[in-house]
Amino acid sequence: MKTNSRQLIAGNWKMNGLVDSLSGFQTLVATLDKEEPPANVLLCPPVSLLATFASAGRGKVHLGGQDCHDAAKGAFTGDISAEMLKNAGATFVIIGHSERRQYHHEGNDLIAAKLKAAWRAGLHPILCIGETLAQREAGETLRVLSGQLDSVLDDKIAKDDLTIAYEPVWAIGTGKTPTNEEIEQTHSFIRTCLTKISAELAAKPVLYGGSVNPQNARGILALPHVGGALVGGASLKTVEFLEIIRSANVQ
Ligand code: 13P
Repeated sequence: MKTNSRQLIAGNWKMNGLVDSLSGFQTLVATLDKEEPPANVLLCPPVSLLATFASAGRGKVHLGGQDCHDAAKGAFTGDISAEMLKNAGATFVIIGHSERRQYHHEGNDLIAAKLKAAWRAGLHPILCIGETLAQREAGETLRVLSGQLDSVLDDKIAKDDLTIAYEPVWAIGTGKTPTNEEIEQTHSFIRTCLTKISAELAAKPVLYGGSVNPQNARGILALPHVGGALVGGASLKTVEFLEIIRSANVQ
């Protein structure tokens, strides 16, 4: 099944980028201004660059945060709220990235609260799900994915304004990816899970993330249930990120 939505190519810079990264961002914006990109484009720089990029002129590029606190404000040293991201120029926010789950011990209850915070602030959340290598090797991938979706998206909080990103943890930053057939099967399974929650949600693009690069992007983005990509390392290089954007499948 193909959805009617344009694909979304999202870059997650993680904890990379200093003020001198502005020139790369401006090249991205200027290049996309000249071309008609075949996909919607999102960049999630570190929060230190968000307002700088927003005020430099984002053209066709949407901007997003990489995480948010679930509260709107308060005594939470070092944290950032969804409202603050929005105020700095974001329209999207990544929630539940595996690096947050792993290094900050974020569990499903907190992730559900953060999703609500994103909606409260008027941001579009991208919810990341994915299995670890041990879970994959134990044959638990589908059980893990449906568990991550079910525990976060119950009937009360399920909303259409949400994008799911499937990022196998073992594929992130490793240069390894599932085969295209495996990606296709897993995305098809995710769509089946989403159908049980909401038909509108199931019609939304589901992104693939994990070692996407200019060489493998076209094949992955051509898969029927793949609605875009969440790109880490390759999004730091403007030329590579542009190549991935140009590989999007026009549906
Ligand atoms: P890489 O593309 O570097 O594997 O990172 C993927 C990712 O975690 C994007 O959120």
